[in-house]
Amino acid sequence: MRAFRCEAFGPIENMSFETVPDPVLQPNQVRVAIRVASVGFMDILMVKGEYQLKPPLPYIPGACGAGVVTEVGDAVTRAKVGDRVSFLNYYGAFAEQIATDEHTLSVLPSSMDFEQAATFRLAYSPAYLALKYRAHLKAGETFVITGAAGGVGLAATRLAKVLGARVIGVVSSKAKREASFGAGADEVIIRSEGDLREQILDLTRGKGADVILDVVGGDVFDACVRCLARNGRIIVMGFTSGRIPEVKVNRFLLKNASLLGVWLGDFMTNHPGDFETMNQEVLELAAGGKLPIKIGARFPLPELVPAMEALLSQDVIGKIVLTNPA
Ligand SMILES: NC(=O)c1ccc[n+]([C@@H]2O[C@H](COP(=O)([O-])OP(=O)(O)OC[C@H]3O[C@@H](n4cnc5c(N)ncnc54)[C@H](OP(=O)(O)O)[C@@H]3O)[C@@H](O)[C@H]2O)c1
Repeated sequence: MRAFRCEAFGPIENMSFETVPDPVLQPNQVRVAIRVASVGFMDILMVKGEYQLKPPLPYIPGACGAGVVTEVGDAVTRAKVGDRVSFLNYYGAFAEQIATDEHTLSVLPSSMDFEQAATFRLAYSPAYLALKYRAHLKAGETFVITGAAGGVGLAATRLAKVLGARVIGVVSSKAKREASFGAGADEVIIRSEGDLREQILDLTRGKGADVILDVVGGDVFDACVRCLARNGRIIVMGFTSGRIPEVKVNRFLLKNASLLGVWLGDFMTNHPGDFETMNQEVLELAAGGKLPIKIGARFPLPELVPAMEALLSQDVIGKIVLTNPA
């Protein structure tokens, strides 16, 4: 099969696209012919060696994809040849096929196409885990989402509206403001138009936000942590700005507030049963058509590096996918 290979951690241009042996199928695994793979921040961090999990080298990058089952191992119980599935596997998706553990799969509802399926898991699953399982976001609460026009941001916006919250999106440009409104945000802040903390306090009449989901880190997190409401919850999910922030914990003491970490990978690996239940819940919501994914750009499989460069440019609104038609 053809696949991208990473021989050593480093710049994304160092990856090679080549013909490699097909993966060997283990008894608990399913072979998937990949039709679409999702390109995300985590994939870039992993290639550079900057992600919290470092795969054994050499490895095939790509955490998430969707396609058709072509072979099943002897111990597999749920999937069968011909099933349309998505998978979340840390790595292996930037290739024509993958052998992946059965527990990493979801069988797709017939209404969901491969692009939606490949991108769904890394957008809606972390957003749902954060809002529903960790922050317990309630109807009527005010929810602030940073990076609101990104993959997680748009998903969290739609989910928070389904849960009945008032949503304030935080973005960097006018085009992204339109995307955030398009996903249902009630108000949208453009960061460069003023002090972020003051803008959030203005929109909440000085009370602050009940729940904040931050994927940007750096100065954005620093501002957000200073405009939490009493009993507020701030969720740490990512650091796209490149800086992991530090925080004075007295801010939480003074407001009975909480700092919540969310890592979908840990939840998937260490709580596979709960992970499966959560995915089914969110897929059922999606089957009702309420949770679409905006695809911002499509690249053919061999063009992974331009796809990653597009992501880093911050110009693409929505998810970026690699396609490998049958
Ligand atoms: N913890 C978990 O389980 C988990 C799960 C999924 C994703 N994540 C992480 O969450 C973060 C967001 O993921 P995503 O899929 O939403 O990414 P994305 O679609 O690329 O969106 C990220 C957003 O970050 C903002 N941003 C700020 N500074 C940036 C920079 N220097 N370069 C690029 N973007 C920048 C951009 O919004 P503005 O331009 O509007 O600021 C962009 O829309 C990533 O760090 C990802 O690894 C974590």
